[in-house]
Amino acid sequence: MVATRRAPAAYLRGGAIAIYSPRSEEDRAADPYDRDSQAADYYSAVALGHQPAVWDLSDGSWGRGAAQGLYRTIASYVLELGCRHATGAVLEAGCGVGRTTYDCAAAMPGWSFVASDYAYRMCERAHDVLCGAEPIALASLAKRGFLTATLPARAPLGNVTVAQASVLDLPFEDGVFDCVVATLVIDRVAEPAAALKEMARVLAPEGRLVLSSPLNFRDPASWMSFGLRDGMLNLIGGAGLHVSAAFDGLSYHEIKDARGNGEEWRIAVCLAGHLKT
Ligand SMILES: C[S@@+](CC[C@H](N)C(=O)[O-])C[C@H]1O[C@@H](n2cnc3c(N)ncnc32)[C@H](O)[C@@H]1O
Repeated sequence: MVATRRAPAAYLRGGAIAIYSPRSEEDRAADPYDRDSQAADYYSAVALGHQPAVWDLSDGSWGRGAAQGLYRTIASYVLELGCRHATGAVLEAGCGVGRTTYDCAAAMPGWSFVASDYAYRMCERAHDVLCGAEPIALASLAKRGFLTATLPARAPLGNVTVAQASVLDLPFEDGVFDCVVATLVIDRVAEPAAALKEMARVLAPEGRLVLSSPLNFRDPASWMSFGLRDGMLNLIGGAGLHVSAAFDGLSYHEIKDARGNGEEWRIAVCLAGHLKT
C-alpha cells in the first residue's frame, strides 16, 4: 500500500474506495463527470470500447475510434518501466474509467497501481472495471445510437487500489510513486500549474511523469499561460521537472455516436522527471 499523508474521510463500496477529497452534493451535481453515470458509460466505451463485446455490438465504431493510438502510446511508457524494474508504484491521476491501469496492471504484477479521480462516479466505474469481474451494461449509450452495449466480464486485478482524490490535493506522501500518469486531465482542472506541482511532489526522485493533453483549457488565463505551442513544457518546467521526450499532434478521434461522428483532438505527450536525462 502506498503511504498516504491523511486518513480517508469516508468510504464507498464497503471500504473499497477511500474518499480523500470529499465534495458537496451541489459540487458533484455541477460536475459532468460526477452528476450521473452518463460520463462513466461514455468513457467506458471510448476508453475500453476495443473490447470485443462492445465493439461487436456497436458495428465497430468504438474500435475504429483512434483512441487506441493514444492509450497504447501512454501504456507503452508505463510498461517500459515494468520491463526495467520488477516492483514499483504507479499513480493514474484523473483515471476516469482506469484505462491505463487496465492496460498495465496485469502485465506488471509486482507493481502496485493507484487509480484516482475527483469524480466518485468515475471511481465507482474504475473500481468495477479494474477490481470487478461482472459485465457492465452501458445503458445511457442508447441515446447515442448504441442500443445495446456491455463491457464483457474481466479478470479482477489484485494489484490495484481505487481512491477518490483531487489531483490538486493528492493524499500521498512525497516521492512515493515511480510513475505518475495523467491522460486528458490537466486541461480539465481549474489550476493546471498546481496540479503539475502536486504530481511532481508525489513522484519519486527517479520517477517518470507521463503527461498527455489536448491543452483544451477551460479558461482564458490558462490558454494565455499554457495553451500555445510550448504550453505543456512551461507547465512541466514550472513544477520543477525536466522533459526527457515530448511530441505534439497525436491524433485522437473521439467517437460520439453510432454513426462514427466525433471530435478530433491533437494531443501533446510528454515524459518528464526530477532528473535531467
Ligand atoms: C477527459 S476525462 C479523462 C479520463 C481518463 N484519464 C482517460 O483518459 O480516459 C477527465 C477526467 O479528469 C477528472 N478530473 C477532473 N478534475 C479533476 C481533479 N481536480 N482531480 C482529479 N481528477 C479530475 C474527471 O473526473 C475525468 O474523469
